[in-house]
Amino acid sequence: MGAINTVGVVGLGTMGAGIVEVFAKQGLATIAVEIDQSALDRGRAIVTSSTQRAVDRGRMSEQDAKDLVDSISFTLEFSDLAAADLVIEAVPERMSIKKDLFSRLDAVCPPETIFATNTSSLSVTDIAATTSRPDRLIGMHFFNPAPVMKLVEVVRTVLTAQEVVSRISELARACGKSPVVVGDRAGFVVNTLLVSYLNDAVNVFDQSRVSREGIDTAMTVGALLPMGPLALCDLIGLDVCLEIMDVLFAQSRDQVHAPAPLMREMVSAGLLGRKSGRGFFTYEKPGSGRVIPDELTPADFEPVTLPRQVYLVGDGMQCEELVKLCAQAGVSSHVVSYDQFDPGQVPEGVPVLVSVKPVQRAIDIATQMGPRIDEVIGLHVLFPNQKGQLVEIAATPFSSDRLVRISQSIALGASASPVICDDDSGQVVGRLLSPYLNDAVRMVASGYVSADDVDTAMMLGCGYPRGPIAFLANFSTPDTICDVLEQISRKTQLSRHLPVSALTDAAIYGVGIDQLLTESS
Ligand SMILES: NC(=O)c1ccc[n+]([C@@H]2O[C@H](COP(=O)([O-])OP(=O)(O)OC[C@H]3O[C@@H](n4cnc5c(N)ncnc54)[C@H](O)[C@@H]3O)[C@@H](O)[C@H]2O)c1
Repeated sequence: MGAINTVGVVGLGTMGAGIVEVFAKQGLATIAVEIDQSALDRGRAIVTSSTQRAVDRGRMSEQDAKDLVDSISFTLEFSDLAAADLVIEAVPERMSIKKDLFSRLDAVCPPETIFATNTSSLSVTDIAATTSRPDRLIGMHFFNPAPVMKLVEVVRTVLTAQEVVSRISELARACGKSPVVVGDRAGFVVNTLLVSYLNDAVNVFDQSRVSREGIDTAMTVGALLPMGPLALCDLIGLDVCLEIMDVLFAQSRDQVHAPAPLMREMVSAGLLGRKSGRGFFTYEKPGSGRVIPDELTPADFEPVTLPRQVYLVGDGMQCEELVKLCAQAGVSSHVVSYDQFDPGQVPEGVPVLVSVKPVQRAIDIATQMGPRIDEVIGLHVLFPNQKGQLVEIAATPFSSDRLVRISQSIALGASASPVICDDDSGQVVGRLLSPYLNDAVRMVASGYVSADDVDTAMMLGCGYPRGPIAFLANFSTPDTICDVLEQISRKTQLSRHLPVSALTDAAIYGVGIDQLLTESS
């Protein structure tokens, strides 16, 4: 096979126009094909305005931008693609459209031309099987916006020739991208991990007391993610998320991938997120990212008078952090360990704060309090050494409103961000991160993707500060995650929430998960 010098791109919408820009910037002869003149003009306009933005930001000269657009051969002539060494399609996500397109390409292009699809959720194998060259068809999954996002998932099927995988990976690298080679499973790496997590967040929001602001604050402050999951659903579009979940569910038939009922209801109601002006949040107008207040916007918090002392039940580092938190808010704490807790010793009017752990919930202490059951609440501090501390307030079904407000005031008094949630294992951050981490370990342990590649994919595809395997290695211990997952699966009754064996092995043998996965791969 010769070098890739000429590239054809079919479909110049959101993705195709960006992909054209990527190849043209690399100096490749680029043929850009659309279905009719107005779509072709729109595609050219997208490339022109994108390069103009680069000029405005000082990243490209006016002349280079003009040369780049002039170098692209925009055409309605499908037969022009005969000159291409590689043709990639970015037409709408419908199997009938893609199959029809590739059969026409088969008739036009010489047998050695490589075909690529930018599909997000269709089976690349199904597409390949309908062509006369299944060994030369590959997935090249760019992320939006293609000129900016560094990740390309290179999707190989069981039919793809190794040489094609290598050449497409090389081409992606030459275009300044970081290719990650994955197998042809629904959702590939990024959409499977990301959208399953978003779907889970929607279910937690729907089924617990945590507010939409609480979920998003927990994951940005407590897990340092660039955006909260509900705001991200709104940005991606709930219809797009639903479509991906439908595909994942169709493949796995696992209840864990069943689209969140609330997501489906919102899509049916036309609440698609930013694009429709309303999703989990309400926006100034359709297409805007500016959130405006609505009936779910919390009222301004009115602080309550803080008690001088609290009774703190717990031990270890978490408990020490709570002592510090209370002190910062001007409240002194009397600390006793879980097993030495004696309800008779708690002075009248002194609230009981429990330092919660995966297997230690506030309700276990509250039920010992008899008629004073409402005076107990759980607290959990995250990232105590970072600037923005998160305090998860784990309210039992009996915790009084006053105690919830006291806990909020203590957190705010210590300049931390309080999030009220149920007294469940993992609270919000542990509840949402653990299944995501478990899924990532499952992918690596099954040989679908390497530990390094899953980390690269999540960092470059989602803008996460670190990948799941690096997170597990640096920020958590396998036994804690295993405990949280076991408690989650007890509640959800989903076996897929049970820790995968690589995690339980790491917990039992005291080995780092990164080490275990590297050694097994
Ligand atoms: N939008 C995203 O964020 C995103 C991200 C990654 C992958 N993808 C995938 O990329 C593909 C395209 O998505 P999009 O969002 O760019 O869609 P889009 O609707 O914005 O663009 C599709 C374009 O294809 C053109 N088209 C339709 N039929 C054609 C034909 N037979 N020949 C030539 N052009 C034709 C349309 O005129 C349109 O301009 C889909 O497979 C999608 O799953 C999308």
